[in-house]
Amino acid sequence: MQLPVQDEILACLQFVFPEIEWKLDEIVSFYKAIGIMNLSGRPYAEREKKLFEVVFFADHVVRCVENISRRRDIVLLDCGCGRSYLPFFVNLVLRKKRRTIIYIGVDAEPELVKKSSQTADALGYTNMEFHQSSIIAFEPEKKPNIVCALHACDTATDEAIAKGIRLKARFIVAASCCQRQIVSQIGKAATKVPELKPFVETKIAKEYVGVALTETLRKLALESCGYKVDMFEFVPTRYTPKNIMLRAEKKQAQNPESLKAYSALRDYFNVKPKIQDFLPELL
Ligand SMILES: C[S@@+](CC[C@H](N)C(=O)[O-])C[C@H]1O[C@@H](n2cnc3c(N)ncnc32)[C@H](O)[C@@H]1O
Repeated sequence: MQLPVQDEILACLQFVFPEIEWKLDEIVSFYKAIGIMNLSGRPYAEREKKLFEVVFFADHVVRCVENISRRRDIVLLDCGCGRSYLPFFVNLVLRKKRRTIIYIGVDAEPELVKKSSQTADALGYTNMEFHQSSIIAFEPEKKPNIVCALHACDTATDEAIAKGIRLKARFIVAASCCQRQIVSQIGKAATKVPELKPFVETKIAKEYVGVALTETLRKLALESCGYKVDMFEFVPTRYTPKNIMLRAEKKQAQNPESLKAYSALRDYFNVKPKIQDFLPELL
């Protein structure tokens, strides 16, 4: 019997990827194999929302792949891949679309890397490799055209964005897990700019300002380095409130106007964004 949650998954897959013919038994086997569903074909409670998040995020990664000529090699670097639900799902979609890529996942946790490699072997996904490393220290053998990061923790998103810029990736796609680093710093801003005090007096306002400030600084950092950036909500909030996506494409060498805007915003709020540690050109 088809479970209501399976109906919802099928509807979501058909909505996001209508060009693919989805078969329920095939996707249930796939989700069981990657460890999102239990043996009865029901998502594990703590992973159910992740399943939907991954589908919506994958849409943007797949679009990047489809913007690259079939004549080129495509290398995708996934930063902070964790249990690799995103890599496996993107790989499934691209196989269905007959696009060949090399998929590299990197994560700091050795156990997760080992598990991801075992799952890739079990699925016969020979085009995928997983490495244990910090994002910023990782030097892939093949240059990626796409760098992505889904909910890499706090400043790990800064590492991913900086890594993509350093590696001159054409596309960078990131959705942050939290904005703790900047949220913890914005209290200081009110000591310099009294008009900001009301924003830092309540926890909720401080968090909203911190989220908007973090993502806008990241957007400006990317733009300073020559990327065109879209910033938007990539998944309905009922699946996750952590739904701000930065989707960037390299268009020019640098953008001095964006660098000016970045410095002005940073200095107004008196914060030290982590991304600068990895991109000294922002200082
Ligand atoms: C919240 S999980 C998200 C995992 C996966 N992207 C997903 O959405 O299911 C964050 C992952 O980033 C990894 N991570 C955090 N900081 C990292 C860093 N600096 N370098 C490499 N991996 C990191 C953690 O080990 C963890 O697996």
